[in-house]
Amino acid sequence: MSTKETGISEDISVYRNAEYPVDPLFIERWSSRSFADKSVSSETLYTVLEAARWAPSSSNLQPWRFAVAQTEEEHTLFQQFILPGNRLWTDKAPVLILIASDKRRDDSGEINSAHKFDAGTAWGYLSIQANLLGLSTRAIGGFNHEKAIEVLGLPEYIEPHAVVALGYQGTLDQLDEKFHDKDKPTGRRKLSESILKIRGLTEE
Ligand SMILES: Cc1cc2nc3c(=O)[nH]c(=O)nc-3n(C[C@H](O)[C@H](O)[C@H](O)COP(=O)(O)O)c2cc1C
Repeated sequence: MSTKETGISEDISVYRNAEYPVDPLFIERWSSRSFADKSVSSETLYTVLEAARWAPSSSNLQPWRFAVAQTEEEHTLFQQFILPGNRLWTDKAPVLILIASDKRRDDSGEINSAHKFDAGTAWGYLSIQANLLGLSTRAIGGFNHEKAIEVLGLPEYIEPHAVVALGYQGTLDQLDEKFHDKDKPTGRRKLSESILKIRGLTEE
């Protein structure tokens, strides 16, 4: 399909193309590590979190929880648990959001088996809303989970999953040289390779 047919920008189509017609937004969102020296207003940040709030969840338990670093003091806390390789670029992100989830169904302590799945959906919603607002996000699993729990004083029923860096995308010269080659949209395997064969039903 041509960029005219798909609506996907020519810059992105060098790296990514859809096999089936989807909203260009899904193809055009990608996770840069470069952040411009520009702050994100609280209004914008909370709009991004609002989108996550409307994610679907098992029994509507809404297990996602967010810890936000906006101020210098909050950033200093997050820097204590983000791994050094990631800090080379996360230190420049104006906002960091720890995405966690409440493992419990309710106060009885029964486990919500869908808490991680639902927190992942919330991150997806958040990243798309950020993109719609002209912002960039990149998730990080490379942080010390135990240290995050300790530094932020999280209760034992809260499980951290990822730290999301949020801000306006910067240029390559604002990014550590180490990442210059990597800072571009990634591809994806073919859709057919993600479709599981169902024994006895899927044609060979
Ligand atoms: C749960 C999760 C953990 C990730 N951890 C890291 C990380 O520690 N460091 C990093 O640079 N990128 C990390 N990423 C970013 C992925 O590598 C990136 O999203 C993936 O390569 C797809 O690229 P795209 O988001 O640009 O489409 C993580 C992404 C997710 C969703």
